[in-house]
Amino acid sequence: MNSKLPTSPHGHRGPAECGLSVPGESAVLHPGVKPASLRDGFPLLAGAPALHYLDSAATAQIHRSALDAVLRHETTSRANISRGTYRLAEAADLAYERARQTAARFLNAGSSEEIIFTSGATASLNLVAHAFGNTLRAGDRVLISIAEHHSNFVPWQMLRQRTGIDLALIPVSASGRLDLGGLSELLDSRCRLVAVTHLSNVTGAWTDVATLVDAARKVGASVLLDGAQAVQHGPQDVQALGVDFYAFSGHKCFAPGGVGVLWGRAELLAAMPPFLAGGGMIGEVTPAATSWAAPPQRFEAGTPPIAQAVGLGAALEWMMSLDWAQLHARESHLCRQLIEGLQTIPGLRLIGPEFSAARAPIVCFDIQGLHPHDICQVLDARQLALRGGHHCAQPLLAALGVGGCTRASIALYNDEADIQALLDGLHFVLKELA
Ligand SMILES: Cc1ncc(COP(=O)(O)O)c(C=O)c1O
Repeated sequence: MNSKLPTSPHGHRGPAECGLSVPGESAVLHPGVKPASLRDGFPLLAGAPALHYLDSAATAQIHRSALDAVLRHETTSRANISRGTYRLAEAADLAYERARQTAARFLNAGSSEEIIFTSGATASLNLVAHAFGNTLRAGDRVLISIAEHHSNFVPWQMLRQRTGIDLALIPVSASGRLDLGGLSELLDSRCRLVAVTHLSNVTGAWTDVATLVDAARKVGASVLLDGAQAVQHGPQDVQALGVDFYAFSGHKCFAPGGVGVLWGRAELLAAMPPFLAGGGMIGEVTPAATSWAAPPQRFEAGTPPIAQAVGLGAALEWMMSLDWAQLHARESHLCRQLIEGLQTIPGLRLIGPEFSAARAPIVCFDIQGLHPHDICQVLDARQLALRGGHHCAQPLLAALGVGGCTRASIALYNDEADIQALLDGLHFVLKELA
């Protein structure tokens, strides 16, 4: 994991056992539910009242609706899909396709046939780098940013190695926002794709998608957004965003792990060859040649993560039932409380922009002289779960002149007590380690 981050002199250990237990049924949640009671909908959190979980950018806790849907599916409708003619298999088909329709509504996709289930954002991004990548020629340009997660960085480097594409980088400003000042030079007629994060997992900065899309359209380039972080903060509208591909993971939006989504515009998907080959993605196979199924099946070779997709559908339905204006105001309030508190800590450098509305509650910081793993270890002893390291964004950290940093990420189940516990914890860290 943190292969390039120097080892902590204090000897980092893994996350401590929390001694968690799963409680009984909690209240069903309805639109307009009071955010304070949201925590009850997450069995792990409800079973660990002392835990301050501030690592939702890595994995969000799973919501009860998703767990229930997985259990219900596995105990009433488990069968393989697209194959069986018996009723149980038809029930599995129906559940899986219903989840696809839910994902389409969550993203406001034109059609559920534009939704491809994958194993996660990484698989979605690799799918585009391979399948769309196969339509590119040497000299074609792909424009990414220095702020990308490795899963939207390395696949393009590998494509460059395979095909000779030109890979260009949007730089960041000192605060870590994408610096779009030089966009007109980077986006010339060779550019076929702009592939950037929608929301940075390090700086918490939202990307100015409108400016990017406008510029990309002028040269005929497609736009991919890595929505891995964005989806946790509410449903997205790919048509309003004006993009062509959108990738995300279930485990970051209160759903099970092992499932993700790639959305792509129908006409682009139709022009792409498959990535993985196997059962389910073919039209016809003869000893001489194989033809492909239409999307989305063309890109879903083999048995997909069926129960996980059903769980994802349930989590997304639940998310769509929430009052996001209220939740954004709350997230913003907690983000401000955190950033203002961090700014009182001696020797602390905030990585990423100051507090503003264009900032999500993903907050990285570096404390002079202290290793992020040591900080996290001391905080863990106080029931605070935070991530320390390079956050799979080594080029960004290098550009910002940071070796590693500590990240607190806030989700809808966090509250002021979590933030205060972290601020108190950091003062304790300073006493213990500085
Ligand atoms: C911005 C971003 N992109 C992509 C990913 C990869 O997601 P996954 O590991 O779920 O495939 C992450 C994970 O942290 C991320 O933060």
